[in-house]
Parts: sequence; C-alpha cells; structure tokens
Amino acid sequence: MPLSQPTVFAAFEARFGRPPRWIVRAPGRVNLIGEHTDYNDGFVLPLAIDRAIWIALGPRDDRRVTVHSVDFHEDAEFVLDRLANEKAGWIEYLKGVAWSLQDAGHRLTGWDGVLQGDVPQGAGLSSSAALEVATARAFAASSGIDWAPHPMALLGQKAENRWVGVQCGIMDQLISAAGQADHAVLIDCRSLDTTPVPFPPGTAVVVLDTATRRGLVDSAYNERRARCESAARFFGVKALRDVDLAQFHARAADLDDTTRRRARHVITENQRTLEAVAAMRQSDPIALGSLMNQSHASLRDDYEVSSDALDAMVDSARAHPACYGARMTGAGFGGCAVALIERQAAEEFAATVAASYHQSTGRTPAVYVCRATNGAEAFEV
Ligand code: GLA
Repeated sequence: MPLSQPTVFAAFEARFGRPPRWIVRAPGRVNLIGEHTDYNDGFVLPLAIDRAIWIALGPRDDRRVTVHSVDFHEDAEFVLDRLANEKAGWIEYLKGVAWSLQDAGHRLTGWDGVLQGDVPQGAGLSSSAALEVATARAFAASSGIDWAPHPMALLGQKAENRWVGVQCGIMDQLISAAGQADHAVLIDCRSLDTTPVPFPPGTAVVVLDTATRRGLVDSAYNERRARCESAARFFGVKALRDVDLAQFHARAADLDDTTRRRARHVITENQRTLEAVAAMRQSDPIALGSLMNQSHASLRDDYEVSSDALDAMVDSARAHPACYGARMTGAGFGGCAVALIERQAAEEFAATVAASYHQSTGRTPAVYVCRATNGAEAFEV
C-alpha cells in the first residue's frame, strides 16, 4: 500500500499533539530512457512514480525547523540563521534546501514536521531528489513562496551539488517537481523544457529492484562526467548534446578508446530518447521496447555502468513473452532495471521474473508495477 495523506497526518498528530497545517509529497522517479545524458545537456524521458516522500508540517513563530523521521525513528532540528553542514545524514538534505532557498533570496519561516517515505533508498529511484523537492515544497507552503517546479528543481539540485556534495544532473529533481500523471516527461536538459508524453495503450512500466546497492557510484559517476566534458572539448562544443552521429564518426578515430565509447553512448542515447518519444506518440510499444534494449547494451558495453545483477535482471525480464524491452535505469552499478510490458500480463510477469532472477542470482528482488503520478504537491489541511 503506498503511503497516503492520512498516514502522515496521523504521524504528525501523534508526534506534536495537534493537526498539521500542510501535507506535501514529492515522488521518486524511474527513467524510461535517456541515461547519463542530463549532464551532457541532452534528453531524458523519466516518469514520477507512485512512491514518494511526504512531510506533514505546522508553522512555528520562530526560525527553527524541527523534524521527526518516522522511517529512521529520529528527531533532528536546525535554525535557519545558523545553517552549518555537519554531514549528519538525512537532515542535511533539508538544511541544504533551506540554504539553497535562502541563498536565492527567499525569506523562510520555521516549522515542525514529520517526514515519511516509501521510495527505497539507494535503489536508483531518486529518494534524495524526492526529499529535496518535498523540503522545497514544504518551505514554499509554510513561507508563502509561489511554487514553480523548474526554479525549485534547480534549487534542489544546487542543494545536492553544493551542500550534500553529489554532482548529479537535473533529471531527478525536475521530474520530482514537474511529473505528470499517466505520462512520461521528455526533458530537454539544456532548455529545461518539459513535454508530457502518453504511454502506448495497454502497456505498463515495471520497476525491477535487483536488491543490490550501488557501490563506488560517486567516483565512477564523476569520472564519466569528466570524460564527457573532455570529449565535448575535443569536438569544440559546449556539451556532447551538440555532436551528432555523423560528426562523431568523422573524428572518432582521433579519440582514445574509452573516451570514444563514452561519447558514443551519450550521442546515440540522445538519439534513442527522441526516437522513443516518437514511438510513444505512434503507440508503438515494440519500437519503444527495442530502443530500451539498445540503451541497455550501450550502457553495459560503451558506458560500462551496468552490473552482473542488472544484466541478469534485464535477461530475466526479456525472457518473458509480455516484455517489450528492459534496461538498467538510473546511475547504474546496482539498483533497479525498468521494463515495458503488456499491462494485462503484469501480475504474472512480476511473479515469473522475480522467480527467474532469484534462481539465477540467489537474490530476492522487489518488483513494482508503477503508475505515473504528478510531481510535488501541497495540500492545506
Ligand atoms: C543519477 C543522477 C542523474 C542522472 C542519472 C543518470 O540519477 O542523479 O542526474 O545523471 O544518474 O542518467
């Protein structure tokens, strides 16, 4: 059962002995296609999923923020005038967003809140971005700031980059802020234009959690970014978004092997993402699935961010006749795969793939059929 308003409402009442004033939610995400393209100014096609971070909150008269985490059974607090980075775990995401909003000139007021979520952590479903966007939504509600998804997503990303210290792109925060129910969202990561794209009728998106968690992902991620930047310099452009396949082939022989394969992934992935949008608009799940399969091969062989567990999961999913296509999703090295399947076979697919993955790896996966939801929302109680 996904978390819901009444659950966090009750948790707030139990903790503070009064009802909350607002309840906010910000969803996690799964990316259908367009991986490791966002920091190359490219295209991504994620959806916001029906798993989210929720905050129930009530106003305070001072500039203190006190938060109870239901999931961690922990309390934490900070004062908006004296923000210090203490590397203290989950509360740093909230402090980072407060810092980023204040740095952008927003005048914030304090609140008491209860925090609860059902986005699995470290699984590549963007629990951190959901926490940042939920926090921004909470401050916007309590401090009377107009909510605009795009600038708020950028401020969430700034918190992640500068306060938490992770060099992510804009995809995760932007889809958490600007998701659209029943749609994937094409994001142009240069202009930040967001375009909702409907799913082919009769299909379902399934998240397949390998039950492995990414290790060393930050250093590998930063190394991939640096490699892409050097490839862009080689081609004399701002970002790899600006190189098409013909330009790539014309000069690829002068690149070292690793940089050539990394650049080839990004350039072909941008192309595949735009083709995936066209396939969705034409209600062509076979073409979309085939692009997802190609994306996985490119991430595994050229970008080298897959893992044995992810490859095994993708193989298990594709072996099922209801599967149109499957690929790893998110940064890689562990976490989740995503599959596009025939909706009517969803339950049987989930059971069969879980069993076959268990048989080949000994691990017990988690399989969710997801519903695409809206981005961050606030409800006044
Ligand atoms: C992580 C980052 C995103 C994006 C993906 C890879 O999720 O946070 O910005 O780069 O990896 O596509």
